[in-house]
Amino acid sequence: KALYRSIMPVKIHMNSPHVHYTDSHIEADYAYQSSAVHTDGDHITVTPRNTQMRFRTESHVPRLGVMLVGWGGNNGTTVTAAVLANKLQLQWRTKTGVQKANYYGSLLQCSTVCLGSGPEGDVNIPFCDMLPMVHPNDIVFDGWDISSLDLGGAMERAQVLDWALQEQLRPHMSRMKPRKSVYIPDFIAANQQSRADNVLTGTMAEQMAQIRADMREFRSCSGVDKVIVLWTANTERFCDITAGINDTADNLLAAIQAGAEVSPSTLFAVASVLEGCAFINGSPQNTFVPGAVELAVQRGVFIAGDDFKSGQTKIKSVLVDFLVSAGIKPTSIVSYNHLGNNDGKNLSAPQQFRSKEISKSNVVDDMVQSNPVLYRPGEKPDHCVVIKYVPCVGDSKRAMDEYTSEIMMGGTNTIAMHNTCEDSLLASPIILDLVILTELCQRVSVRVEGEQEYQSFHSVLALLALLCKAPLVPAGAPVINAFFRQRACIENILRACLGLPPQNHMLLEHKLQ
Ligand code: NAI
Repeated sequence: KALYRSIMPVKIHMNSPHVHYTDSHIEADYAYQSSAVHTDGDHITVTPRNTQMRFRTESHVPRLGVMLVGWGGNNGTTVTAAVLANKLQLQWRTKTGVQKANYYGSLLQCSTVCLGSGPEGDVNIPFCDMLPMVHPNDIVFDGWDISSLDLGGAMERAQVLDWALQEQLRPHMSRMKPRKSVYIPDFIAANQQSRADNVLTGTMAEQMAQIRADMREFRSCSGVDKVIVLWTANTERFCDITAGINDTADNLLAAIQAGAEVSPSTLFAVASVLEGCAFINGSPQNTFVPGAVELAVQRGVFIAGDDFKSGQTKIKSVLVDFLVSAGIKPTSIVSYNHLGNNDGKNLSAPQQFRSKEISKSNVVDDMVQSNPVLYRPGEKPDHCVVIKYVPCVGDSKRAMDEYTSEIMMGGTNTIAMHNTCEDSLLASPIILDLVILTELCQRVSVRVEGEQEYQSFHSVLALLALLCKAPLVPAGAPVINAFFRQRACIENILRACLGLPPQNHMLLEHKLQ
């Protein structure tokens, strides 16, 4: 089977009267097929729908700048180091041999999509070669941290990467220094106080003005064309949703001026939106209070989140989908975690743990609700999440899960799982996928039949759900957690940009006589 590797990017040419290439765009006419369903008692009427659309993708790939909030943390340093190591094509000795830099774990760089069949069988290409996209090696990083340690020192503090690699990266990483950040002690665990030596002062409005100035300064000094901001700082406690404070865009802006209760992550989200920079939240807290969402929609700026879906939850969104869609009934899911990095230390405080618990707990809802044969309305499996801080294991997080299911004739099936791996090496490729997909979405617009204007995706960028534990979706839209449904969504929308029908896996050419 032909498998192309990302080292040699492939160029796809659509041989179709429905796809046009202009100097600046790829334009594809597309028939979106859906069905409207009407239920009346036990009578269900299904009406297939066919909507003509034109997808338009700008083909020029801009120079992308990414600003990380929490740049000096484990994820921030690891993703920056990984990009540098790949760009410099570094290799280093480990006790098991020579290791080369790679992007394993990245959907875009290291997973493939099947374009169809040729004389030599299926043709699979890397996801990132479907449409013109930013390559991670070309991303320019910057960011903020409440800890002043430069990225070289912060990488050492994180204890994630092999020492032989750190030695090679150190001179480059040490030149990068996080900008001063917004620190409101009440939002993160008290045990973080000792690293907060790089903080902004002044009123909340002044601090927001400073981080907005940082975004502008970075854009102009680094020569990037656009900037995306991503929160990978500590998990905050949830913020109360209060009428008059954060329920509308105007109230939220006024609350910032008045110095009312606004979390640092919400402040960064508002600052980004006001600067026209997309904002992604990689942590579980409710950064996107209603006022922040309204502001993003008003300004037409993308926001996405919440909480990177990297390990245990990712497996959950595969395993429960597999069980329920196999007709097996999960009745209990119990997840234990222990980790020893700074994230674990912060999560050892009850309010910050609670944010994570909420984020992890709704992940099976859509799969359960999709099967009324197994579950009565409102019925759910028991679901328990425990997280403990154990310094000794460092970034090498342990996750233990027990899935109990009811099988035929009252039988019981128990699956127990043990998962060990460096948390930040799972999260870093997800950070790259998030920013690269967001940037691509900024270049895609769609014209629906009968309408004059092209529109872009909704400001709440639900397309990124695959990469998030608690996907943020536009009001009223269904939340999809099932991993392969989420993946198919991205693949099929990218195929639509090329005028290709959704991947249907029917392979009828091999099933008929
Ligand atoms: P970390 O604790 O190593 O890094 C967080 C950094 O944020 C620290 O350097 C801290 O000084 C900084 N910080 C705290 N408040 C700040 C503020 N207001 N402004 C700027 N910087 C601030 O944590 P790690 O492991 O990098 O994780 C980061 C976040 O990502 C956590 O919230 C974690 O829950 C979340 N996450 C991580 C996943 C993973 O697999 N590593 C998966 C899902 C979510």
